[in-house]
Amino acid sequence: MHDIRGGAWWRGAAIYELYVQSFADGDGDGIGDLAGVRARLPYIANLGIDAIWFSPWYPSPRSDAGYDVADYRSIDPAFGTLADADALIAEGHAYGIRTIIDIVPNHCSDQHRWFRSALAAPPGSAERARFWFRPGRGDGGDLPPNNWRSIFGGPAWTRTTAPGGTPGEWYLHLFAPEQPDFNWANPEVRAEFEDVLRFWFDRGADGIRIDSAALLTKDPRLPETGPGDPSPYSDRDDVHDIYRAWRAVADEYSGRVLIGEIWLADAARLARYLRPDELHTVFNFPYLCCPWDAVQLRAVIDSTLEFHAAAGAPATWVLSNHDVDRHVSRYGRADTSFGLDRRDHSQLVDLELGTRRARAAALLTMALPGSVYVYQGEELGLWEVEDIPDERRQDPIWHRTGGADPGRDGSRVPLPWAGLEPPFGFSPPDATAQPWLPQPKEWRELTVEIETGEPDSMLELYRRALEIRRAEPALGDGPGPGATASAMTWLPAPDGVLAFSRDGSPGDNVCCVANLSPGPVTLPAHTAVLLASGPLADGLLPPDTSVWLGIPAGP
Ligand code: NOJ
Repeated sequence: MHDIRGGAWWRGAAIYELYVQSFADGDGDGIGDLAGVRARLPYIANLGIDAIWFSPWYPSPRSDAGYDVADYRSIDPAFGTLADADALIAEGHAYGIRTIIDIVPNHCSDQHRWFRSALAAPPGSAERARFWFRPGRGDGGDLPPNNWRSIFGGPAWTRTTAPGGTPGEWYLHLFAPEQPDFNWANPEVRAEFEDVLRFWFDRGADGIRIDSAALLTKDPRLPETGPGDPSPYSDRDDVHDIYRAWRAVADEYSGRVLIGEIWLADAARLARYLRPDELHTVFNFPYLCCPWDAVQLRAVIDSTLEFHAAAGAPATWVLSNHDVDRHVSRYGRADTSFGLDRRDHSQLVDLELGTRRARAAALLTMALPGSVYVYQGEELGLWEVEDIPDERRQDPIWHRTGGADPGRDGSRVPLPWAGLEPPFGFSPPDATAQPWLPQPKEWRELTVEIETGEPDSMLELYRRALEIRRAEPALGDGPGPGATASAMTWLPAPDGVLAFSRDGSPGDNVCCVANLSPGPVTLPAHTAVLLASGPLADGLLPPDTSVWLGIPAGP
């Protein structure tokens, strides 16, 4: 097995986010599945990936695309069986690919057996104490217990109906009503999830991606919130107790990693999750959200490295995932920044510009110290599909905001593998159903088949970059233990240009230059051009282009 730094493989790994229902459909029902993944493992291995993070694969009514889990110890029948998952983990390991699974601990599905028994049990029961049930306010309890809003729009409380049809208590859901929040003050909830972790570690999972990791604990008083108030449910100090316990579980095994999905602007607060007895890494969302601007990117890179170095943890570098607009589209707009609360599909998208920048961003990102994520399809240069017909949209965000927020379906469209027409090889030729989200016909230019072996394709750029990144000791986490902070050095560069070196063993340094300025720039002294995101013009680096150079070792 390809082993990156032995037990700490995750420090410099290239991790592929595999969104199961949109990767490959093995049985022709229009929904991706584990058989589809198993058949395409050679593709992922050939891309140069060290680990796959699978989006939730559990039984689920799919009110939130699987982030509403009905059973944490099983596989959705639409995806396959537990035996398929076991086989997939083993086959991945045979290719040197590790498995990271997605655990959703803030909430479950309203079809989870615990929530069903809570609904059947009376107020004040032990069954209801695993969730947040409360009487309503006002006459007859008609008003929700407080003014909290769902992250998906609308109130964060839904009223239950008691047997006989009379209105009953309300329950809390920070996301959709079909996703009731667990009460993490309840020891049964804690014990249950520690058992779930062991269940998957015992089956060979190498890591856990922790969904909504900062939201688990709530202020038990459930206070009203007003502008400027500290959040009663995000990033509370007591959430860290949970991760200390989870780290102890992970440490019962070897080489297992805990990765937090934490959207926090405050780097100091984020760093607290990386304390030595908590999580190993967290997703770097400030980098993802940053506009295509040299000054702002440099500031995000510096602050990322600074707080990770202090924590002794490796940084992560992420350009896209299943919750955000694909970066080809983001970088092709007039406003290249991104925020979860301001998705804007009304802006014009220059796909040619966005693609050129996405190529440059890939080399910039893969040269930075730490681990890197690739969201399925970014290696093909897929863009955000902004014109999905309303009747085909699935995302609860779109539905709960009445379409004011376009939602996330456009980043989740099934992959194009081959051929000239949808489903582009996503489903087998004898498929009985269309892909669960429609694919644009223009993706005939972006199939794996078309891009394979085509030197200028996004796919070949990713393959080559990941290959060099794996082979060059200066790249990835860099040499030496905990080298994150010292492993890159900014080099003098004109305005709008990012240039830095990664220091390997003597004579083995790599330099990355990303030109975000409007004009071509000269390259620093180098011994070799290792890889460029676009053609150099008379030895100059054109705008929106990046290059990796071999450079002489410093004195
Ligand atoms: C974050 C996940 O990435 C997103 O897709 C999901 O809707 C929410 N957490 C709720 O589970």
